[in-house]
Amino acid sequence: MEAPTGRELISREEVAHRVEELGREISAAHAGEELLVVGVLRGGAVFTADLIRQLWVPVHLDFVAVSSYGKGASSSGEVRLVKDVDERVEGRNVLLVEDIVDTGLTLRYLRQEFAARHPKDLRVCALLNKPSRRLATVQVEYVGFDIPDEFVVGYGLDYAGRYRNLPCIFALSPEVYQQK
Ligand code: PRP
Repeated sequence: MEAPTGRELISREEVAHRVEELGREISAAHAGEELLVVGVLRGGAVFTADLIRQLWVPVHLDFVAVSSYGKGASSSGEVRLVKDVDERVEGRNVLLVEDIVDTGLTLRYLRQEFAARHPKDLRVCALLNKPSRRLATVQVEYVGFDIPDEFVVGYGLDYAGRYRNLPCIFALSPEVYQQK
């Protein structure tokens, strides 16, 4: 498998173990209820697929895709829904699933968008969290791992479209992304 220049930050075993724990925790919180799981494309697809198989409550699965402009420190925070869910949200227990929360701008938008549709319950599960990069205060009920401010790839996360299929989380060497 194509591996980038860098170091393994979180092994596939650590990821799998944490996904299992999150699945248990989320299932216990929704015992006796149904859950509408909404994965955020594209990065969140891999985590979403693994997480739902660790849930023992009845699950419905849907996806959204967002696009953001001017990402980075100077971000305007403008986020737009480019693919919406097909499922009705009103009155449902909704779990938004993200691969990573960085500035928090994407999630702030998604939380507002979904809250406006009057779900019964709205929670967020993110595999990775970079608290040091936060620009927007946003609630994340379930976090897999807090990570330092490094460029991470694998398990759904990409660099220039590559490495999403790596089974672990890799921290890229700065020379890889500073070449550009
Ligand atoms: C990533 C990630 C989140 C967002 C988090 O998506 O999947 O959706 O960025 O960043 P934020 O907290 O700073 O808003 P990305 O835009 O890289 O798209 P992708 O998932 O399609 O790769």
